[in-house]
Amino acid sequence: MMDPATFAGKKILITGGLGFVGSTLGRRLVELGANVILVDSLVPEYGGNPFNAAGLEGKVQVNISDVRDEHSMRHLVQGQDYLFNLAGQTSHMDSMLDPYTDLDINCRAQLSILEACRKRNPGIKIVFASTRQLYGRPDYLPVDEKHLLRPADVNGVNKMAGEWFHILYNNVYGLKACALRLTNTIGPRMRVKDARQTFLGIWVRLVLEGKPFEVWGGPQLRDFTYVEDAVDAFLLAAASEQANGQIFNLGGDQVISLTDLAQLLVKVNGSGEFKVRDYPADRKPIDIGDYYADFSRIHSLLGWQPRTTLEEALKKSLDFYRQHLPNYL
Ligand SMILES: NC(=O)c1ccc[n+]([C@@H]2O[C@H](COP(=O)([O-])OP(=O)(O)OC[C@H]3O[C@@H](n4cnc5c(N)ncnc54)[C@H](O)[C@@H]3O)[C@@H](O)[C@H]2O)c1
Repeated sequence: MMDPATFAGKKILITGGLGFVGSTLGRRLVELGANVILVDSLVPEYGGNPFNAAGLEGKVQVNISDVRDEHSMRHLVQGQDYLFNLAGQTSHMDSMLDPYTDLDINCRAQLSILEACRKRNPGIKIVFASTRQLYGRPDYLPVDEKHLLRPADVNGVNKMAGEWFHILYNNVYGLKACALRLTNTIGPRMRVKDARQTFLGIWVRLVLEGKPFEVWGGPQLRDFTYVEDAVDAFLLAAASEQANGQIFNLGGDQVISLTDLAQLLVKVNGSGEFKVRDYPADRKPIDIGDYYADFSRIHSLLGWQPRTTLEEALKKSLDFYRQHLPNYL
């Protein structure tokens, strides 16, 4: 269990801090009494949104910088107690269409952030947001951390390098760093404008607009983490010395097919329509098939487990966007 006082008065930098997960983490840390800086480049195609920091005015510092800018990062990491490193290009399709941008953000910039820490702030603790995408198409289910890494797209390759730079700097230079491999994460403040961040985002938008949505690959199995549960994991990992140099899967309370998920969304919303269709031909080669995580490692080492059911997660997401949808379009 984490002592709630752990972060009080601590200096915290969150890259990707105006994004979905980063802003939710920032909110929690403000509640815990931390001094938080949210760093974000607000590239329109990504999940960053100034509205994600609504209500935090005067309580956090927002710094619009790009993590590819080595000068900014060198300055920003100084004096910080914790770095939650969440800035990333997250679209799998975009990483195939524009592999160099993905390389620059998810790989090269990660190395330069770590270099900045090594040279300017070697005592900092870093938690990196990694992804289940590193595993590629699973050989077995549920997937544990021992599973072979065999990414199916450029994004997975670059995130793998980004993750391992963190572990390497922990092991070789004594920086304190660890990584969480997130699965599909959902909740208030996710990108709903389109399916760039998560397909569930566009489903939520269309169901609220009373329009039909499409389910690609209906029988496919997935797990989902509610964003506040993911935030619990970031905090536990940051607070634990035992986590240093470690990699942990996150997961969800339930494994579900995409068709059943669509039905659950419609049920929770009270109305909605969807069509199941095959994966589009251009996405099929990077499709990973069924995936769900074994998260027993983080459970046994750090005591993490999902607290929110999938149904509650969908309800909380719908409630949020029923109120705030125009701010996300
Ligand atoms: N949401 C998920 O389902 C999921 C799953 C696996 C891994 N992750 C990882 O978690 C992290 C956070 O994801 P998210 O869902 O909150 O996505 P998000 O797109 O909402 O957040 C990422 C943020 O990073 C910012 N960003 C991107 N490039 C940047 C740059 N060069 N400089 C500064 N800021 C930049 C974006 O503007 C955005 O606000 C990402 O690293 C992602 O790879 C998320």
